[in-house]
Amino acid sequence: MAAYIVRRMILEALHFTAALAVSSRRKPREIAGSVGLWSRARRCAKAWAPHEENCQAFVEEKVGQLIERRHVAVLGSGLLRDVPLEFLAKSFQTVTLYDLVHLPSARMKVRGGRRANVRLVERDLSGGLEFLKTDDAPDLVISACLLSQMALHARNPASTVRRHLADLLGGPWVPCLITDTGYEVRNVKGEVIGTGDLLGGEPPPPAFRAWDWTVAPFGEAARETETVHRVIAV
Ligand SMILES: C[S@@+](CC[C@H](N)C(=O)[O-])C[C@H]1O[C@@H](n2cnc3c(N)ncnc32)[C@H](O)[C@@H]1O
Repeated sequence: MAAYIVRRMILEALHFTAALAVSSRRKPREIAGSVGLWSRARRCAKAWAPHEENCQAFVEEKVGQLIERRHVAVLGSGLLRDVPLEFLAKSFQTVTLYDLVHLPSARMKVRGGRRANVRLVERDLSGGLEFLKTDDAPDLVISACLLSQMALHARNPASTVRRHLADLLGGPWVPCLITDTGYEVRNVKGEVIGTGDLLGGEPPPPAFRAWDWTVAPFGEAARETETVHRVIAV
């Protein structure tokens, strides 16, 4: 167990150092957050798989409804687990991936696939989406499990959520919103022993699809409890 923890810490430190070297924003706190997510995603891969499949299927369904497929923007592209990158790269002329941080593992997924039409942009998206409203605005904008994360770190979570929803759902593009809205903490008997909201008290828009995402299975955050997020797709 101790060897496993040491190995994990070494891997995280290496990933952090490599990410800092290639990041344009070079913000250690943001990079540490992304490395933490990368490490958690590896540990919880089995528990997260159904959520990731649901996200990818919903994105593919959205793309199937589009007439124009020139440009797609993915907001909160992160580790590229929720988004079907290969499918998007084949379906659109240009794919732009936005996140605070693009870790080396995500950059390798893009470069390894020799996807010349995929661009990576490091940007803080909490300031709104005005920058996307150009003559070359995307045909599809996907907000990929970003909103609750922005709310978590915002000074005013409710206004950050309101602004993102207004920008995303009111832009000159087809919107695709995937977000967790709240969570339950359950004990080993399946009893709910805690709940919480993840959107700063703002009501989520009506969803086309919804599912549960076991973000922290038993043993991840605590041995005796699991944390399950409610996810909506709009
Ligand atoms: C739950 S993860 C999304 C996972 C990702 N969609 C995937 O497929 O792996 C949330 C992402 O939002 C990003 N994020 C959080 N706040 C942000 C902000 N203000 N601007 C841009 N990205 C942000 C984080 O860096 C993280 O990659």
